[in-house]
Amino acid sequence: FIPPATGGAGGGVTAKDELGNDVSVAKFLENRNAGDRNLVQGLKGDPTYIVVDSKEAIKDYGINAICTHLGCVVPWNVAENKFKCPCHGSQYDETGKVIRGPAPLSLPLAHTNVADDKIVLTPWTETDFRTGDAAWWA
Ligand code: FES
Repeated sequence: FIPPATGGAGGGVTAKDELGNDVSVAKFLENRNAGDRNLVQGLKGDPTYIVVDSKEAIKDYGINAICTHLGCVVPWNVAENKFKCPCHGSQYDETGKVIRGPAPLSLPLAHTNVADDKIVLTPWTETDFRTGDAAWWA
């Protein structure tokens, strides 16, 4: 079985909601504030945070929510401005850079673009802007 292509060039996918429907950016930004981080289904169906940049725009990167320790989905903690894994206590800053183990690595990034009111995610293969290192997940 080969799933139908979900659109977007260069290995991109459209972000999906929990029901598998394309996420409308306009709807996504309703009732959200700059700095909010909310999950969609991204590349390979992985839970991925979309970062709200302003009332009108999202940031141009998404953050994969799967903990690099043992794979729990890491919640965003608004009060502490970091991601905190409930499983073994790893912490990541607001960009997903690891700041406390046992997680060995930062959360993977994906590029985000908006096309026709849809969020398109494409693989991030360039340098990790948070560490200056090569993208370990690419
Ligand atoms: Fe996240 Fe272990 S799975 S700290």
